Amino acid sequence: MTVFDLSQTQTELHGKNPRTILKTALTHFDNIAISFSGAEDVVLIDMAMHIRKDIQVFSLDTGRLHAETYRFIDQVRKHYGITIDILSPDHQPLEALVKAKGLFSFYDDGHQECCGIRKVAPLRRKLATLDAWITGQRKDQSQDTRGDIPEVQRDAGFSTADKPLIKFNPLLNWTSAQVWDYIEAYQVPFNDLHRHGYISIGCEPCTRPVLPNQPERAGRWWWEDATKKECGLHIGNKAAR
Ligand code: ADX
Ligand code: SF4
Repeated sequence: MTVFDLSQTQTELHGKNPRTILKTALTHFDNIAISFSGAEDVVLIDMAMHIRKDIQVFSLDTGRLHAETYRFIDQVRKHYGITIDILSPDHQPLEALVKAKGLFSFYDDGHQECCGIRKVAPLRRKLATLDAWITGQRKDQSQDTRGDIPEVQRDAGFSTADKPLIKFNPLLNWTSAQVWDYIEAYQVPFNDLHRHGYISIGCEPCTRPVLPNQPERAGRWWWEDATKKECGLHIGNKAAR
């Protein structure tokens, strides 16, 4: 691993294509992993496999994903012959939350508490073992919250005083249409939910299909304000600051 200069790398990568960003990420860091949600971010895995076969991939299993998403994550595991690290929430805070507030507290209290236990805490545990991670965030997913994400950044939420964590967003400048062109052109497997009107996919109770021309994240936490549609995985994005 060569010495990593964040600001120089950001300058070099500015406006570059996803493959170049991924290649830089996977060349600079050995201890780096792709964060795979089980949606169209599968293109990251496809691209990465052409660069390095020994990629690390993890998924946060909230316990509330759609059956189609579980099937798809396993399909991807077999298709690429990779190991996917499936992370579960800590049972103690989860059982306490469900006991106190039931299984659908997010509709009344907002999604932060449940996401905090089911997604953010397991992510924090995983990221503590890594030097860098790779996400499928794109600017066109939401101008409100993702309009200014960079190619590479020091993770504002998960770095610690003694250990900086680097975060790469290789797809940032791609549109949804470009992602789907790639999936079609390279015959990449995809989540069956996309055949049923779903664009952005999260947990089953907090995701619904969107209508034509609706913003793609309109189907996520639809009962909440557009500027709050971040769950805490991407602290540092506008709405999460
Ligand atoms: S979220 O913050 O609203 O849930 P979104 O679904 O847009 O995020 O996905 C953006 C990126 O966050 C994904 O491409 C992936 O890198 C990461 N991500 C989101 N959900 C998960 C998950 N369940 N497991 C692993 N990574 C995830
Ligand atoms: Fe809980 Fe919904 Fe967040 Fe999933 S998306 S962790 S079900 S609040």
